Amino acid sequence: MKNYVSASILSADMLNLEKEVCRLKNSGIDMLHFDVMDGIFVNNITYGLPVLSAIRKITDMTLDVHLMITDPIRYVERFAENGADIISFHLESQSNTTETIREIKSAGAKAALAIKPATPAEVVYDYLPYLDMLLVMTVEPGFGGQSFMPDACAKVKPIRERILSLGIDCDVQVDGGIDSITAETAKKAGANVLVSGSYLFRAEDMSAAASELKEETGC
Ligand code: DX5
Ligand code: ZN
Repeated sequence: MKNYVSASILSADMLNLEKEVCRLKNSGIDMLHFDVMDGIFVNNITYGLPVLSAIRKITDMTLDVHLMITDPIRYVERFAENGADIISFHLESQSNTTETIREIKSAGAKAALAIKPATPAEVVYDYLPYLDMLLVMTVEPGFGGQSFMPDACAKVKPIRERILSLGIDCDVQVDGGIDSITAETAKKAGANVLVSGSYLFRAEDMSAAASELKEETGC
């Protein structure tokens, strides 16, 4: 299975975002992970549509938007119009899951469903045939730089098995506390899209860190 790296710009130098985006692209990173927080679904507030649209103008990288907001269905069309290629929203949000998936797809983006660490794997099974990606949070959403939660990552295995048994094409993304060691655990469990913020931006050699994250596990 091919692995992809999605860099969370929550850890980027915000005053030099254009340079940072070029650095990601030149380091062989596949996607740019854009964390949107509304201060209600999670305590923190980040950035939104104008920043996404500015990034869209300067890059052809895949823009992977992670909505940590209370009522995502109200905004998915605008995120797609402003450049999102993939839109993840939370199962724990207030929006109807099936309708939100439909709305994302009709806006022309890929649809992904995200689950928090305490949400059991089984609750996503019925949605898998309609999704392009399933996002398993390996930290509590809200902040970068937290420690990886192995118990949350354990859900990746049954989810990947379900995807295989359904014979469908659905990526499994992990997000939170991903570094070269925890990425190995996540890939072994069946994840193939690794979100990484602090590890990548702190690395002395971003290209080397990215290729390590992408390396195949051999099983
Ligand atoms: C957390 C965010 C993550 C975060 C990852 O709520 O969804 O995308 O930026 O950052 P690290 O890799 O530092 O845990
Ligand atoms: Zn995220």
